[in-house]
Amino acid sequence: MKNTIQDKEKLVNSVFTTVSKKYDLMNDIMSFGAHRFWKNRLLDWMSPQENSSLVDVASGTGNIAKLFSNRIANSGEICCVEPNEKMYLSGKLNLKNFHNIKWFKEFAEKLPFKDNTFDYYTISYGIRNVTDINKTLKEALRVLKPGGRLMCLEFSKVENELINFFYQRYSKIIPQMGKYVVGSSKPYDYLIKSIDNFYTQNELLDLIEKNGFSNVEYRNLSNGISAIHSGWKI
Ligand SMILES: C[S@@+](CC[C@H](N)C(=O)[O-])C[C@H]1O[C@@H](n2cnc3c(N)ncnc32)[C@H](O)[C@@H]1O
Repeated sequence: MKNTIQDKEKLVNSVFTTVSKKYDLMNDIMSFGAHRFWKNRLLDWMSPQENSSLVDVASGTGNIAKLFSNRIANSGEICCVEPNEKMYLSGKLNLKNFHNIKWFKEFAEKLPFKDNTFDYYTISYGIRNVTDINKTLKEALRVLKPGGRLMCLEFSKVENELINFFYQRYSKIIPQMGKYVVGSSKPYDYLIKSIDNFYTQNELLDLIEKNGFSNVEYRNLSNGISAIHSGWKI
């Protein structure tokens, strides 16, 4: 069990070290820009108030933190958590002009914050990559204030059979695109496998509830290619 956890941590770290320089470009290419639209839908549903605080976990290059900050006129405090050295450095550089955003090179399973600190917790395309999803969700609950909200954006399960047929075929060529753009197909083999092996919308909803969140619900994006889950700390 311990070996499996360490193996996943190593694999995920090497995946993001390989893709870090071209991470945003490759996302734009393989999703035809849709990831930007999906991230904006998360912010639309969240509808954050000015001066609210956010912890964005698995921040990568900092897309969510930037959108959140822009929506609240840079008024609130934001903490970005990202364990991969290269992604962390690239995110920090991207957002260097945002003085309300701090970066932490830490893991989702053990956050360096006190209990009841944040109004919002986001994790975008990160929960599939953590080594312990239950620990991650418990940490999310711990650091949120009572009344605080978790929002999770992740690849999910396509609901329409015909769309799924084409989506599955399209997925098969993504590693080849990765080879061309990033120089390696391996990270994108991992991406496709990890999406296949991940929970359904309802399984993830149950898991979030089991870890203490209330009023958990989800919304599909593009027929379930991605989904946003929302839950509250009561
Ligand atoms: C697909 S990227 C998502 C980046 C960004 N949130 C976005 O939506 O574009 C996943 C990120 O999760 C990070 N990650 C992997 N394991 C993690 C863990 N245990 N805790 C926190 N972040 C982790 C990776 O280093 C990577 O930067």
